[in-house]
Amino acid sequence: MPESLRILMVEDMPADAELAQREISREIPHCEFRRVETKDDFLRELEAFRPDIVVSDYSMPRFDGMTALRLSIARDPMLPVILLTGSMNEDTAVACMKAGATDYVIKEHAKRLGSAVLGAMEKKSLWAEAARRERERTELLGRLRASLNGTVHIISTIVEKRDPYTAGHQQRVALLAERIALAMGLSPEQAEGVRIAAVLHDLGKVAIPSEILSKPSTLTRNEFALIKQHPFEGYEILKDTDFPWPIARMVLEHHERIDGSGYPDGKPGTDILPESKILMVADVVEAMASHRPYRSSLGIDAALEFVSENRGTLFDPEVVNTCVALFRSRDFSWEGATPAS
Ligand SMILES: [Fe+2]
Repeated sequence: MPESLRILMVEDMPADAELAQREISREIPHCEFRRVETKDDFLRELEAFRPDIVVSDYSMPRFDGMTALRLSIARDPMLPVILLTGSMNEDTAVACMKAGATDYVIKEHAKRLGSAVLGAMEKKSLWAEAARRERERTELLGRLRASLNGTVHIISTIVEKRDPYTAGHQQRVALLAERIALAMGLSPEQAEGVRIAAVLHDLGKVAIPSEILSKPSTLTRNEFALIKQHPFEGYEILKDTDFPWPIARMVLEHHERIDGSGYPDGKPGTDILPESKILMVADVVEAMASHRPYRSSLGIDAALEFVSENRGTLFDPEVVNTCVALFRSRDFSWEGATPAS
């Protein structure tokens, strides 16, 4: 509590104001009072006097306590307001507290005013402490999120260094997958999980010999069998990390197909996470639309045609529809795209 408490009294009766001031001063010796009785004076003193607390009469000929309360909250939600009234029924008392009053005192019980002011100032310091903690928590979360994104970026860079054929692929898949997730109505938090899984989705390639990853010619059956292990390898690396999203599952399932023809497990669509169904479409569309050193780009039209032809067999129909709509409406392109979160 400040050494000297500035108390703005809203009271039309000077005698009542003096009585209230005496009662407050009995409990709190160092108080500075100012009295107003109109809305204009109240608004002016809120700025000029900068009170620590407002004590307002409930009904006055030219102003009223509920309006004083609303104006106080609008200016500073942390400014305590005590309503003081000649009589107050229970409904009025409840209405005052619901509107945000810190306390109310009936004039007959004016002796309680000093302790009510002390209690209100105690509440104010608790609010300030809670607000400070919330600010610190938000800052900490921001720093944690930035360091998580930094770590995820480092990992994806390592994967792409080993597999230069797909440089930029994971970031571009992430941009598209996040936009599809948001367009499908997933929450921003869920969409962020899809984005992070997409940035990491080919992490398991670190376990594949780089001669196979960078082989410009057609892979043998055994080599392709090794490549098909990468979703599982990625899952193994990530499965014990406590992300707030099922990142390891999404990485594991990004080459599954809803008719069960995918790999590594050939899961049916009913066993595949909705987020993984987004990731698999974004992965295929980006891969087909991008240039590779061993082939030129098939183009976005061919990519969209492929996923559309396989809508409901390989790919989730809603995901395909959303992805196609994003490109057709020109709501999405990789040029200049940045992550939404
Ligand atoms: Fe992959």
